[in-house]
Amino acid sequence: MVEEIIKKAENFFEEGKKEIENITDEELLEKWRIKFLGRKSFLNQLCTDIPNLSKEEKIICGSKFNELKKNLIKLYEDHKNKVRKREIKYNLTFPGRRFFTGNLHPITKVIDEIVDIFHRLGFGVAEGPEIETDFYNFTALNTPEEHPARDIWDTFYIDKKNNILLRTHTSPVQVRIMEKYLPPLRIIAPGKCFRRDSFDSSHSPMFHQIEGLMVDKNIKFTHLKGILTYFIYEFFKKEVKLIFSPSYFPFTEPSAELSISCVICSGKGCSTCGNTGFLEILGCGIVHPNVFKNVGYESSEFTGFAFGMGVERLAMLKYGIDDIRHFFYNDIRFLNQF
Ligand code: PHE
Repeated sequence: MVEEIIKKAENFFEEGKKEIENITDEELLEKWRIKFLGRKSFLNQLCTDIPNLSKEEKIICGSKFNELKKNLIKLYEDHKNKVRKREIKYNLTFPGRRFFTGNLHPITKVIDEIVDIFHRLGFGVAEGPEIETDFYNFTALNTPEEHPARDIWDTFYIDKKNNILLRTHTSPVQVRIMEKYLPPLRIIAPGKCFRRDSFDSSHSPMFHQIEGLMVDKNIKFTHLKGILTYFIYEFFKKEVKLIFSPSYFPFTEPSAELSISCVICSGKGCSTCGNTGFLEILGCGIVHPNVFKNVGYESSEFTGFAFGMGVERLAMLKYGIDDIRHFFYNDIRFLNQF
């Protein structure tokens, strides 16, 4: 009698061992568990015969059943791990991983936008080095060594003995381009500039400018006004008043500053415009004959205009940003908004 029961139990174990091998998903594995380890399993049914056995037979049978049960549990646990791993590898219906895409920095975006507007006006893009020589940054721009205007652009010297410095404006690109090409010229030059300014809400020792230069026969101040007026309307896409007021730059004559009615308060007066209703956004003028002389242009034949604007300033006005430092802190909560 006891041999018969044990034989049946062993057959049942062999059956379970065989069936589990072909199981590849968790649903079928659960069905297997209920059949071979559940309360109503064949093994448990066999247990109901135990009370009819003798004392010795009970011991033999009981320990055999326990052994088989332990082995079935082990089969189940091992197989469960295998199924899980395989499912993670092959289940194509799992949700995908989320990709975090970056976006362009607001300064890059504004530069692209400005370049695009000038592109439509026939301006090409030029670039120059951020590490410049004293000659390109100052001397060729009609600002010789002892010129007091050098003080306004006091800069970081990399090698004072050899006059190597970080450029204080993008104007040296004017010189580099004119040395290389003859008029007619229409270029803009975006890039980084450096000045010995302390880092506060409106100053940064590193910032961006966009230089503009147009040289041809008969270029007049009206061309400059027309081009800049068109640019401002295209950039801000709203009604803004423009004021050109006299100014001074060594490399332009006459020189001017362009102010626009405050885009934050619409000219009513606020903290951004210091209650004046206007904001100064760029410097410009007619290229000084000495600059032409320095690059070998015949100043009786050509005239031109140039301008230089601060990109951070324009970006702050366009997006209502109150502190220039936001552009450089790289706080993802700020950058994500653009
Ligand atoms: N380079 C000048 C500045 O940085 C701006 C400017 C450019 C003025 C071109 C006139 C012409 O302040």
